[in-house]
Amino acid sequence: MARITITGLHKYYGNHHAVRGIDLDIPEGEFAVLVGPSGCGKSTLLRSIAGLESVNDGAIEIDGELVNDMRPRDRNLAMVFQNYALYPHMNVYENIAFGLRARKTPAGEIDKKVTDAAALLNLDLLLDRLPRQLSGGQRQRVAIGRAIVRDARLFLFDEPLSNLDAQLRDEMRGEIKRLHQEIRKTFLYVTHDQIEAMTMADRIVLMRDGIIEQQGPPLELFEKPTNKFVAGFLGSPSMNFIPSALVTEDGKVSVKFEDGTTLLLPEDRQSKYASQAERQIIFGIRPEHISRADGSDERVGVEKYQSVIDLVLPTGSRTYGTFHIGRTPVVAELQAHDVKGAGTALALLVDMNRAILIDPDTEIVI
Ligand SMILES: Nc1ncnc2c1ncn2[C@@H]1O[C@H](COP(=O)(O)OP(=O)(O)OP(=O)(O)O)[C@@H](O)[C@H]1O
Ligand SMILES: [Mg+2]
Repeated sequence: MARITITGLHKYYGNHHAVRGIDLDIPEGEFAVLVGPSGCGKSTLLRSIAGLESVNDGAIEIDGELVNDMRPRDRNLAMVFQNYALYPHMNVYENIAFGLRARKTPAGEIDKKVTDAAALLNLDLLLDRLPRQLSGGQRQRVAIGRAIVRDARLFLFDEPLSNLDAQLRDEMRGEIKRLHQEIRKTFLYVTHDQIEAMTMADRIVLMRDGIIEQQGPPLELFEKPTNKFVAGFLGSPSMNFIPSALVTEDGKVSVKFEDGTTLLLPEDRQSKYASQAERQIIFGIRPEHISRADGSDERVGVEKYQSVIDLVLPTGSRTYGTFHIGRTPVVAELQAHDVKGAGTALALLVDMNRAILIDPDTEIVI
């Protein structure tokens, strides 16, 4: 088990400042997921913890011990790389067993560990194959197997599922999460897939351009993003961002869109924004908080908007309908049969309790 503490970490590649001041404290046994767009520094941070990159400034501690200058193999961690390499002349069994043999583990123990890992990863029938006789996804699972048989104190994963097809990826997400529940070691997992981050993490660490934008439990980031980037990164389809203004009418604060419509803020949010009227804002609302008005349950804080749906995207279980507010396309999550086709006029309900208001200059949630 291992606690990771990172303080003031910086990493340059030549002139390129790839990690720009990271502070991170991951308690032992936690499943932390580093997520963010391509190039934001996720692999660099992970490789620094593994000891595969030297850092320019800051401290990396594992269990309170400074490891900045410790050799990778002395750090007692297991890593699955984004570009993993298997030994081409060894079969699957020997590839998984390699690290154990190198540590002079007794043969019986090796056999049990390899067999258990192979069963977990659905590799039982492939143990005799060579890497070139495997698909990309199968190879990736061998790489995961090689890491999990190690009795490491810390597991680092760098996009280990990127070569798998969608169904296998879903299954493996579940398996990796189950594996964590069983062994309760510290996991640090890198992905650029926000769904993977949401489903697996105890804590999401959301990065952009070498810094951490926000970290916390998945639902906290999802429901209480601190800025527009975080709000837009998590959730699919993404949150809608609609340019608008806060206005006061009859002593009540409303959101006014480009098309002139106003939606009243709920009673319990009135006082917070009372002093901010007349300012420009970006109104953020997730598709699932815009639904078809059915006339029956008009709840507190839910406002009506008359739309004309101009694009219909059915997914089976639900249908996404796009309409425009001024020049901004907005996506609503509808039920499968709510709308027949483009051009349908539809009364919608906007849940103002769930909307966020963003400062257009700083992009911070206000
Ligand atoms: N060896 C290197 N030399 C120079 N620049 C590098 C090197 N490795 C990474 N970089 C740069 O550092 C930045 C961070 O790279 P990193 O690989 O950490 O990103 P990432 O978040 O893992 O992205 P991805 O999701 O695409 O894997 C990128 O701009 C990348 O081009
Ligand atoms: Mg990477």
